[in-house]
Parts: sequence; C-alpha cells; structure tokens
Amino acid sequence: MTLWHGRFTNDADPDMFALNASISFDQRMAEQDVRGSQAWAKALELAGVLTVDERTQLKAGLNQIESEFRSQSFIFVPGDEDIHTAVERRLGELIGPLAGKLHTGRSRNDQVATDFRLWLLDHLPKLAKALTNLQTALVNRAESDIDIIMPGYTHTQRAQPILLSHWWLSHFWPLQRDLDRLSALKPRIAVLPLGAGALAGVPFPIDRLALAESLGFDHPSPNSLDAVSDRDFAAEFLFVAALIGTHLSKLAENMVLFTSAEFAFFELDDAYSTGSSLMPQKKNPDPFELARGKAGTLLGYLTGLLATLKALPSTYDKDLQEDKVPVFQAYDTLMALLPVIANALRTLTIHPEKMESAIDSSMMATDLADYLVGRSIPFREAHHLTGQVVKLALEKGVSLGALSLSDYQSIHPNFDESVYAVFDPRGSIARRKALGGTAPQAVEEQITNAKAVISKLGNW
Ligand code: ARG
Repeated sequence: MTLWHGRFTNDADPDMFALNASISFDQRMAEQDVRGSQAWAKALELAGVLTVDERTQLKAGLNQIESEFRSQSFIFVPGDEDIHTAVERRLGELIGPLAGKLHTGRSRNDQVATDFRLWLLDHLPKLAKALTNLQTALVNRAESDIDIIMPGYTHTQRAQPILLSHWWLSHFWPLQRDLDRLSALKPRIAVLPLGAGALAGVPFPIDRLALAESLGFDHPSPNSLDAVSDRDFAAEFLFVAALIGTHLSKLAENMVLFTSAEFAFFELDDAYSTGSSLMPQKKNPDPFELARGKAGTLLGYLTGLLATLKALPSTYDKDLQEDKVPVFQAYDTLMALLPVIANALRTLTIHPEKMESAIDSSMMATDLADYLVGRSIPFREAHHLTGQVVKLALEKGVSLGALSLSDYQSIHPNFDESVYAVFDPRGSIARRKALGGTAPQAVEEQITNAKAVISKLGNW
C-alpha cells in the first residue's frame, strides 16, 4: 500500500505505479534511510512527540531492518514505491501500528534529500581512494621511467623533448585538482534538510542543530523551501565526475595513439586489452577507448540533471526523482574505470628506444635560438635566424644537426663548433630545470611533492 492512498478512491494504474516508483534505484540508499529514521525517532523523542518506550521500540525495529539490509535478507514487495515506503512498511510488520508514528512531522521530501546527501557523503571517500590509487600508479610510473625521454607534442606535432616521467605527472595534477574539488564539495553536501517537512518546516519542537550533529552534518538547512529542492550538490558532484572523465579521456586519447603501431611507444598487457573476432593480429586498447567514451556519458549525466533542474519552480517536484540515477551511474562508472586504468598503466610495457628515436634534432630549434641568445643576440632576432636555419635544412632535406658549420656561419658568424652540442635532447631537457620544468632534478622534486600530496589521503 502507498503512503498516500487516503484521499484516493481508485488504485494507481499499474503502468502509472511503475513509472512513479523509484525503488529500483533508491534502494541503494537503504542504509542511509534507516540511519536518517533512527535520528528522526530520537529527535521526536527529545521533542516530546514520542515516549521513551515508543522510541525504543522504533529503534529495535529499525535495527532489525538494518540487519536485514546488511545480510541482504530484506524482502521488497510489489507495493514498495520507494525505499522510504519499503522501510516504513517493514517497520509496521515488525512493530505494528506504532511504526506509523515515525513519519510525524517528516515528509519524503526532506527525507529523500537527507538520504541522498548521506549517500554521497558515505561514498566520496571511496571515490577519493580510487582516484588516489590511479595517482599512485602515475607516480610509480614517473619514478621507474625517470631515464626515458620522449618527444613532447603541441598540436600533436613534435615540439620539444621531455622526460616520460614529466608526462606521467602531467596526468597526476589534474586528478589532484579533482580531489580538491571533491573535498571542497563536502561542506555543501553536509547541510541537513530533515526538519524542512514537505516544504514549510516542522511544527514540533525539533532541535535541528542536534539532529544535524547526530547525523554528521555540519548544520541544518537555513530555509525549508530551499532545503527540499536544493540539488546543487548533486550537480556539482556530476561536474566533478565529468571533469574526472575529461581528464581520464585526455590520458586515454594519448594512450590510444601511443600504443598504435605508428608510435609504438607503449604496449598494453594482454590483461588490459582485447582482440578482434575477425582480425587475429589485433590487440586493441579498449580500456582507454572506454575511458574516452565514458567521458562523454559522464558529461551527459551532468547536462541531463542541469536540464531537469533548470525548469523547476520552487520546492519539491517529482522531476527531482531523476537526480539519483545520474549520480549513482557517474559514481559506478568512475569506480569501474579508475582501477582498470591504474592497473593498465602499472602493467604497461614501455619501448624507450621508440620514444627516443622519435626525437629529431629539429625539436631543438628553440635551444638553437637560445644558443644565439647566449651569444648576445636578442631573442626575436635569434628566432628569425633559427627560422632561416630551419629553412636551409628543409631545402637541403636534412635535419638541423646535419647542417655543416659553414651552413651555420652563412646565416650568422656567431655560430661555432659548439652549436652541435645543442642537439643533444638530454641536454635540452636538463636545461629546463626551473621549478615545474622537465629537467630530471625538477621532475624528482615534482615526484617528492606528488608523494607528499598522496600521503594526505588520510584526511578524507
Ligand atoms: N521517491 C521520491 C524521490 O526520489 C521521494 C520523494 C517523494 N515525494 C513526494 N512528494 N512524492 O524524489
């Protein structure tokens, strides 16, 4: 039976009931629903609405329900419209009509918002842990690949040589910002809606400050109308999830390219790749393609919820029931993706010789200009002269390091034998030792800083 049948004569059409029901997905909040009810029963007792004895019975019934959920022996019945209905129905079976007193002063509107916030607060640390696990895989790669050099790209064109470690760490810091964003979101989730009632507040002397504290919230919501409609926290969570997806997608797009035969910088372990049903030779980078694909789906969850929210008038509307699926899905998507990506990186085979041989002396053109700067030529002129060197090399069909000294001196007399040292890619890398650069010492420092950041996960 529904919680609201009193004023109705007919039962809901079965298709209407199915459309309206949210039990298929909101049963994930069972534990939070029971916890919220326990706290509400206590608040009702303190407010003098329930006797000590009544609350003791409610507590025992709710404890029983909680253990049924934990042992997965709770049986849902066809009339269970949502998790709140299911818990109250079962409570009635266990303790009789007293169960009907639990909902005094409470609405499913403030109840569901409370459950949802509790659910996210419970799950954020797990997501943070999965993110940190991937960060750890990236730092470990950076440590073990410290001697490997590769071409750095802009516009997917060879640009300047870099350390592979530096490149790994370039994927570490965006995830760190995502963790910061998740952490910054916590205070906006930890605002208690319970006590807002359906929309106007509660007419019993409920101590909402104590109630908030008992459930681990920072404080109660300041406005009951806002409390039952505020889903900012869900939208913000979905934004962070979509941004995590975007970061994973960037890494993934690179991995797909770098594992292709044209690059062959990396090879995926068999455990993290798939074959083709038709082409026996194929080894496909599916985990990374899925990361790239799921980034689009994650973005869809965010835009979907925002589109739902944008049209709503004040307070609770049933549209808000659409808030949970995208949040649960976004969470599940990331929890499925993050460990696989971490392990695919951990088990990767690197081909350093392929990366090194992809570095051409033309990639040191900037170093050549800097060489002239070191010979008192202003950078703008040095850039122009280096451009002429590049042009000459292109005309002769050779790389910069293969031009003769007389070729160089035909462009500027300040060139001498020492110019050839400029074309050592490791020298180019080593010169970029200012903080945040690709030189080994700067990257070592970055690794130290990254490890220090990871060790702070305990704060979650
Ligand atoms: N299942 C509903 C939801 O998820 C619970 C709140 C129902 N409130 C109501 N007024 N019908 O939003």
